[in-house]
Amino acid sequence: MLTLGIESSCDETACAVVEGERTVRSSVVASQHDLHAMFGGVVPEIASRAHAERILPIVEQAMGEAGVRREDLSLIAVGHRPGRIGSLLIGLTAAKALAWSWALPLVGVDHVHAHLHAADLGRDAPPEFPALGLVVSGGHTSIYRAAAPGELARLGATIDDAIGEAFDKAASILGLPQPGGPAIDALSAEDGADDRAFDFPVSRLGKGSLDLSFSGLKTALLYEVRGRPQPRRVPGKPELRADAPPVLTAERRRDIAASFQRAAVRAIIVKLGRALDASSGVRTLIAGGGVCANTRLRRELESFASERGLELRLPPMVYCVDNAAMIAGLGRALHERGERAGLDLRAVPTTSA
Ligand code: KG4
Ligand code: ZN
Repeated sequence: MLTLGIESSCDETACAVVEGERTVRSSVVASQHDLHAMFGGVVPEIASRAHAERILPIVEQAMGEAGVRREDLSLIAVGHRPGRIGSLLIGLTAAKALAWSWALPLVGVDHVHAHLHAADLGRDAPPEFPALGLVVSGGHTSIYRAAAPGELARLGATIDDAIGEAFDKAASILGLPQPGGPAIDALSAEDGADDRAFDFPVSRLGKGSLDLSFSGLKTALLYEVRGRPQPRRVPGKPELRADAPPVLTAERRRDIAASFQRAAVRAIIVKLGRALDASSGVRTLIAGGGVCANTRLRRELESFASERGLELRLPPMVYCVDNAAMIAGLGRALHERGERAGLDLRAVPTTSA
């Protein structure tokens, strides 16, 4: 039961062959980071063109590495939401064309939900349900209650920036290279880094809220680096001057990074605690998304799970970031549950739940 998975929602062109729901036979990811680096963010038109150039060679490479021919495949799964429409359309069109010409069934997969399946890859058995799901990536930050694989109810989500986006913006304010998450992670791990040097805000929102917010944290970091904006001058009064911020020395940059990381991770743990208190019967905590590569988040998720008696399912590093193996694995699970897509499957910019 081999599934070909295709992923092109953002700036990674990916294809994978997965056996059943969990055994990865091949997973090829072509990142476009180098193409977008000089623009400081993903340029949609460049992303779509690069996907179009790369998708078929990547499919061939994934099938070659798995040692399979098209007759060996029994399903095509494609990430069709959420993402940039131009990018999604390339993977979706390739998947439809292959499904039609090879006479294979097609299934559409929600990319955000697939991030939670990544923790299953390479394992022998699925986790115990119900589970709490945490997706922390460059585009999404959400907490779910999962009744079964892919059967998710969203409990909360960011109301502004995704956590990965906040890491990336913080890194750019600190003059660090992109993607910023790994750079902040590395600085925070340096000898002498003081994660309490700056008391950055941990957003809690309303009492009992399971939503998250990272824009206040990002602004606090901005003010710490560049100084507060000039207070508005009152006509007739002497000009008020904001204090210039201290010089951004290497030590200061390192301590700001470590304090930022502490506050960002704290916000996640606070909301997971609330979500768990509000749910009954939860056995497992499943996490996924690029920010799961963060050393401090991984460590704190481990302590949280052990304190609260949950089994923690974290993806191996290689499946934290965008990949097609998670699409293929979840696609197979959905297909087993009877989901089918036709050639009218649409690319959708938003997640389904
Ligand atoms: O899941 P992903 O590859 O893409 C989306 O679907 O958005 O996540 C990419 C994000 C980027 O924002 C990147 O900075 C962040 O994951 N990231 C990290 C780390 N490694 C990647 N953030 C914090 N610490 C890390 N070690
Ligand atoms: Zn992603």
